Amino acid sequence: MQEKKIIKGFSKLSKQDKIKEVAQYFKNPKETSEFLSSFGFPDEYQQDLFDEFSENTISNFHFPFGIAPNVLINGKNYLIPMVIEESSVVAAASNSAKFWSTRGGFHTRIISTTKIGQVHFLWKGKKEQLVDSFSELKKELIEGTNLITKNMRERGGGILDIELVDMRKEIPDYYQLKASFNTHDAMGANFINSCLEEFALILKDFILRKDTIEEKEVNVIMSILSNYTPECLVEAWVECPVEEFAAIDPDMTAEEFVWKFEKAVQIARVDPHRATTHNKGIFNGIDAVVLATGNDFRAVEACGHTFAARDGQYRSLTSIKIENGIFRYTLLLPIALGTVGGLTSLHPLAKFTLELLGDPSAEDLMQISAVSGLANNFGALRSLTTKGIQKGHMKMHLLNILNTFAATEQEKDTAIEHFKTEKVSFNAVEAFLKTVRK
Ligand code: MEV
Repeated sequence: MQEKKIIKGFSKLSKQDKIKEVAQYFKNPKETSEFLSSFGFPDEYQQDLFDEFSENTISNFHFPFGIAPNVLINGKNYLIPMVIEESSVVAAASNSAKFWSTRGGFHTRIISTTKIGQVHFLWKGKKEQLVDSFSELKKELIEGTNLITKNMRERGGGILDIELVDMRKEIPDYYQLKASFNTHDAMGANFINSCLEEFALILKDFILRKDTIEEKEVNVIMSILSNYTPECLVEAWVECPVEEFAAIDPDMTAEEFVWKFEKAVQIARVDPHRATTHNKGIFNGIDAVVLATGNDFRAVEACGHTFAARDGQYRSLTSIKIENGIFRYTLLLPIALGTVGGLTSLHPLAKFTLELLGDPSAEDLMQISAVSGLANNFGALRSLTTKGIQKGHMKMHLLNILNTFAATEQEKDTAIEHFKTEKVSFNAVEAFLKTVRK
């Protein structure tokens, strides 16, 4: 492919011209343009909506949208929509859901829903002068944002508190206004950031006006929400008597399985390499629901990983307790989600997902997502500590491999039959197709 030219004003080109600009680098630009357009929606309104979610759009990128059925959460049955490109994830969630549906299902509780935002500023004045007038400043910060917070307050949310945090041990002259918010059913990023930017203006103005504060120069570095929300916390767990695992593996007793499972969890608590993979499996389930509902999976991931390292070492997000013959396996993590605003109401499939979930509140969705994470992780550990994951995973991956070789429907059917009893690998599938195609 030829080297790319510097393009001026790409964003100002029409969509067709953007496509042309990109397609010129391919052997057959006309075919490439048609290929990109073929992923578009026939409905113009729908396509415009998608194009406007982002910038410089030239096509749509599709992901599979699947369902994990029979997910019993606090006694209520759900069909959980999952958007994920990786094979085995929806299957793992579904298998776990089925297993737990006859053992009391998943249990969840919301511990807290507070979100955080910060105004980071440098100020060289005498701390006591700011501390002494802080309650007055706080009142002005809250009253000065009344217009921004009006609707949110009517829905039961708003600003919960604002603190002055002295960070001068870390960076000279560095302070924060650290505010906590309840954003009700909204993810609340725009609401929080609007409040924070207003706080920054009020802070500067207050210091200028206040005659007991000598140092008038404030340097606001930035005003932004924090995606680390350790007080937006949800817990999901499963529990049952140990003997319920009697039939989980033909080569293991219930006690042997539980012992091995417990060791696997302990390993993920003490070893960051394993903890990362363990938590990745949890996020397989969480992200799939977060994506399906039009929420921000990067924010959810970033927050979860910071929480996993909250004591200074990166650890698993799950914990296990086996006491008096009862197995209890728990996932605890912060997840900040919204069920109103943003893509949740604009993306047609996000809207559909929320409807299928029974129009959940943000708290409901936190619980459903956590369950999806726990279900996937339980499924992964169950396989890892018994038959291993490759056999099942490669079976699920078989269709991907067959598609790589452009297998016909008939070839796929014979391959699926053949690999019911054979080990799946890329080479084995290639060899099999060669014999079939001879
Ligand atoms: C693969 O996407 C996820 C797993 O590696 C998770 C785990 O090892 O716990 C199977």
